[in-house]
Amino acid sequence: MPQAPIVVRTVPALRRTVDIMRARKAMVALVPTMGALHDGHVSLVRLAKRRAKRVIVSIFVNPTQFAPTEDFGSYPRTWKADIARLAAEDVDLIWHPELKAMYPDGFATRIVPEGPAIAGLEDRFRPHFFGGVATVVGKLFTQCRPDIAIFGEKDFQQLRVVSQMAADLDLGVKVIGSRTVRERDGLAMSSRNVYLSVEHRRVAPELHRVMKETAGRLRAGADTATAVAAGAADITKAGFALDYLEVRHAATLAPIASLKDGPMRMLVAARIGSTRLIDNIAV
Ligand code: PAF
Repeated sequence: MPQAPIVVRTVPALRRTVDIMRARKAMVALVPTMGALHDGHVSLVRLAKRRAKRVIVSIFVNPTQFAPTEDFGSYPRTWKADIARLAAEDVDLIWHPELKAMYPDGFATRIVPEGPAIAGLEDRFRPHFFGGVATVVGKLFTQCRPDIAIFGEKDFQQLRVVSQMAADLDLGVKVIGSRTVRERDGLAMSSRNVYLSVEHRRVAPELHRVMKETAGRLRAGADTATAVAAGAADITKAGFALDYLEVRHAATLAPIASLKDGPMRMLVAARIGSTRLIDNIAV
């Protein structure tokens, strides 16, 4: 039977535990999460375990990355199941701060990321999001002092924002991306997939299918704007309200006209019913 991980809820207790890990010179990995863990998160933990001796998983539903109109209140919280999953993966420590430990009364500082955070993708539709993510991840990094941190590629812009922040602020953390885990029908795993009705769940894999088809056309030499416009039309026809389907430079997220101009990433965000899905693939 794997041992239940230690659960820590205050910064002083976290510091003591991390001090012990670091005194033993163990390489420490952090996997930041908001809980509601699925197989995608488990793959992040497994990558962390392959790369480091000690693994910390943080579980904190971060209010500052949700707009007042978004789903902070209803975001799935599955604490007992999460602990069981992390125990089965032999995680060392769960950092599960109280709201007041992260944002004490009088908290007044915010990280305002630029560069990939203002690429005109997620930031266009969720302008509050990357400031909230950068602030909480900055805190998680300084609290846990990991050598490496693992983030899913599903949130591709977030991965770029966090990598840039860690480098810009000399946080001493190597940010590592982990490939997206998909359901058998191609739908990218996400904690928000539980919101999908049976009918919307049936349609949801279309996002991945259309992206793959569009990427295939681009690789075969199709004109970028024409292929992307056809992909966008297919997504809309399938019943989504499309926020964006775009191709960008995979490293900088700058607009890119052709595959010849660098590694290309296709990114999508679309709503079906009241659920907003995002996904991306390499072209
Ligand atoms: O990707 C997430 O689950 C969150 O945005 C993160 C990185 C844990 C910050 O709250």
